[in-house]
Amino acid sequence: MRIYKIFSILALFAFAPFAHAQSDGHTYLQFGCDQCHGRVGQGSGAGLRLAPAPLEFEDFADIVRRPYGVMPAYSPKVLSDEKLGRIHAYLSGIPEPPALDAIPLLQLD
Ligand code: HEC
Repeated sequence: MRIYKIFSILALFAFAPFAHAQSDGHTYLQFGCDQCHGRVGQGSGAGLRLAPAPLEFEDFADIVRRPYGVMPAYSPKVLSDEKLGRIHAYLSGIPEPPALDAIPLLQLD
C-alpha cells in the first residue's frame, strides 16, 4: 500500500513540468476560443488560424479586445490581461507541423 503512495507522489513530480502548459491550454478552452479557432489554434470555417506563430501579444490583445468582424469582443472584465497572456503563451508554444514530405502516409509513390 505504502509503495503506491510513494509512486503517486513521484508521479506528481514527474508531471509537474507539464502542469503549466496544460493550464495555458485550459484557459484557451475555458473561454471558448477553440470553438471557432480549433483545439490547437489551427483555424476552422468559423475562425482564422491562430497558431503556430500567433501575432505579437500587443496586436493579439488589440484584436481580442476590439475584433474587426464577427468575433465577439472579450473585455478585460471578462478576460483579464493575465489570462489573455496565458492563452497567448499556449498558442506560442504550439509547434510548427512537420513538412508534408516528412509524413510517410501522405507519400503517393
Ligand atoms: C464565435 C467565433 C469566435 C470565437 C469564440 C473567438 N474567435 Fe477569434 N476570431 C473569429 C473570427 C471570425 C475572426 C476573424 C475576424 C473577425 O471576423 O472578427 C477572429 C480573429 C481573431 C484574431 C485575429 C487573427 C488574425 O490573424 O487577424 C485573434 C488573435 C483571435 N481571433 C483570438 C481569439 C481568442 C484568443 C479567442 C478566445 C478568447 C477567440 N478569438 C474567440 C472568431 C472567433
